[in-house]
Amino acid sequence: MKEIKIGLLGLGNIGTGTYKVLEMNRDQIEGSVGAPVRITKILEKDIDRERDITVSRDQFVSDPEEIFSDPEIDIVIELLGGVEPAATLIEQALRSGKHVVTANKAAVAANYHRLMQAAEDGGVQFRFEASVGGGIPVLTALTGCLQANRFNRVLGIVNGTTNYILDKMTSEGLPYEEVLKDAQAKGFAEADPTADVEGIDAANKLSILMALMFDHYVHPKDIPTKGITGVTAEDIEDARAKNQLIKLIAYAEVMEDGSLKYEVRPMRIIDTHPLSGVHREYNAVFVEGNAVGNLMFYGPGAGPLPTGSAVLGDVMEIAKTLL
Ligand code: HSE
Repeated sequence: MKEIKIGLLGLGNIGTGTYKVLEMNRDQIEGSVGAPVRITKILEKDIDRERDITVSRDQFVSDPEEIFSDPEIDIVIELLGGVEPAATLIEQALRSGKHVVTANKAAVAANYHRLMQAAEDGGVQFRFEASVGGGIPVLTALTGCLQANRFNRVLGIVNGTTNYILDKMTSEGLPYEEVLKDAQAKGFAEADPTADVEGIDAANKLSILMALMFDHYVHPKDIPTKGITGVTAEDIEDARAKNQLIKLIAYAEVMEDGSLKYEVRPMRIIDTHPLSGVHREYNAVFVEGNAVGNLMFYGPGAGPLPTGSAVLGDVMEIAKTLL
C-alpha cells in the first residue's frame, strides 16, 4: 500500500502544532486519505527542544536536499517563516517535483508569481490556506465554492495580535504600550512585534487575498500600510462615543472605473457591523461577492493547532490526488 511521505521544513511552534494535529487525529486523517500519512524527514537545527511529540532523532536532517532528492517524499510542508530562505526552499521543492504546503504569508506574498510559476513548471500543487486567517478556511472557499462570483470588496481583520491589543484598549480603556506588554507576556505578541503592530503582516495577507479574489497581485511593500502604534486611548473613546470601534482593517475594493483601491490601516467600524463582534486575537474576513452577497469568515487566525489544521487540510487534499 502506498504511504504518503512528507518532508517538513521547520519544527517551531507551527511545525510542532501541525505534527501534533497529525498525531492527535491520525486515524481520521489516514482513514479519509485512504493511506498512511508520515512525516519522514524534518529540516530543523534545534533537535533537543522538548516539544511533547514523538519524533526520533533520525527524522532530522540538516540539508534540505535530503528531502528534495528523496524520491519517496511526495509533499513538502514549509513552516520556517520569514521570506528567506523559505521562498527559495519552496521554489526548489516545487522545481524538484514536490507538492508544497505552507503557512508562510510573508514568503508567498513577496514571491507570488515566482512560486506560482515554479509550481506550474514542476507540474505540482502549491497550497497555502493557512497563510491567511490561520485555521479559517477562507482561501479555499474563495477559490472553490465562491469562484463563480466577481468580488467587489474585502475587509479583513487578519492580524490577531493587533486585534487583541485594540480590543483590550477598547474594553479596558488602557493605553497602547500597557496592552502591548500584556500581549507579549501572554504570548500573543512576538518579542519583536514590528510586523504585527506596523500592519506589515496584515499587508502580506491582503496581498494574497487580492491575488486570489481580484486576480490582481500587489507586492505587500506597495500596499499603503499604517499600523496601530499611533492609536490612542482618546481615539478609541472618541470612536466609542460615536458608536464605532477602531479595528486594523486590510481593505480592498473595486472602484467604479474598475481600478482597485487597497490599504491597511486602523479604521472606524460602526458597532452594528459584523466585524465589530470580532474580539481578542480572533480574525475575520468579510467579503462581498456579486452573486453570493455578503459573507464573513470568522475564527482563530493564528496558533499552532488551528494553523496545523489548515496545513493538514491542504496536505490531505493533495494526498487524495496521489493514490
Ligand atoms: N502574528 C500573526 C498574528 C500570526 O498575530 O495574527 C498569524 O499569522
